[in-house]
Amino acid sequence: MEKPADPFYRQLPKVELHAHLNGSISVTTMEELISRKPHLNIQHSMTAIRKGQRRTLDECFQVFKVIHQLTDTEEDILMVAKAVIREFAADGVKYLELRSTPREETHTGLTKRRYVEMVIEAIRQCEQEDLDITVRFLVAVDRRNGPEAAMETVKLAEDFMVSSDGVVVGLDLSGDPTVGHGKDLLPALQKAKNTGLRLALHLSEVQSQKEESELLLGLPPDRIGHGTFLHPEVGGSKSLVDKVRERNIPLELCLTSNVKGQTVASYDKHHFSYWYQLGHPCVLCTDDKGVFSTELSQEYHLAASTFGLSQEAVWALSERAINCSFAPDHLKAQLHQRWASLRPQVFC
Ligand code: IMP
Ligand code: ZN
Repeated sequence: MEKPADPFYRQLPKVELHAHLNGSISVTTMEELISRKPHLNIQHSMTAIRKGQRRTLDECFQVFKVIHQLTDTEEDILMVAKAVIREFAADGVKYLELRSTPREETHTGLTKRRYVEMVIEAIRQCEQEDLDITVRFLVAVDRRNGPEAAMETVKLAEDFMVSSDGVVVGLDLSGDPTVGHGKDLLPALQKAKNTGLRLALHLSEVQSQKEESELLLGLPPDRIGHGTFLHPEVGGSKSLVDKVRERNIPLELCLTSNVKGQTVASYDKHHFSYWYQLGHPCVLCTDDKGVFSTELSQEYHLAASTFGLSQEAVWALSERAINCSFAPDHLKAQLHQRWASLRPQVFC
């Protein structure tokens, strides 16, 4: 991890809505995984992008392939999910929506259903610890795997939405944005929406996705991941921006991820400023805190120093994120109360 954030940002109660499980594995946990599987000959430099380093988006997706080799058993998924939840809690995250792509690994017997069960089990086990964090789960569809796999994952997510006692709340669409087209995934996403799963879709992560974004915005999604190239200043369009604004769809914004993954040239050019100035709901998130060597407190610190946000503005940003979550209303109300009770100690 890079330089730790200022105490204000650590103590600030936070909501994390965009965190991929396998991208969120810390150095310590990664070392444990590497030591469990020495035959793979994986070094830590292959699973994280350090300070000052950048990678192309394609290289970032290669990193996930390496990490997936290290997390291919039920035991691994349970272990990393618990570790990631504890780390977010230690960073002051009070509500977390974790997302992950159920994977089948024939050589270890891991199935997609057991994968989801392991994440839910990790959430349950963490509830027994004294952690001060509430966790929900979004089942992820990897666009690279095509429409059939997407439909299979949606059915799985629907089953767990019913049987997980409110833990599974939504569906994520992610994966390499340069592979496949959203139109092929539309029936699966529509089905998910019709059954009550909330949709968090990666949208306009690269420049060539204007047509796809128009189509997917028609669903409409409940939240947008990145949305880097939606606005006209970077080749998007007014019509895309209008759609997002009319429907008031919150954006999940991940500064370090976008700069290190080179879809944004520098922090000061991040589209946070465009949307924030419009007064549009923006939620700061980490995306992949392990791969991009960051923490949510650091992302808040970075946004504040780059865009000149006061502590009051930072507080409002973190509290408004509650309303963008997929938590039920009673839980949102509890979280607002929690923010109110924590405020005196954060501003002491
Ligand atoms: P997992 O779903 O827990 O295995 O987390 C890693 C996966 O998340 C990757 O294989 C991608 O499918 C997805 N992912 C992580 N970061 C990004 C991103 O920035 N854009 C699109 N997909 C991503
Ligand atoms: Zn993401």
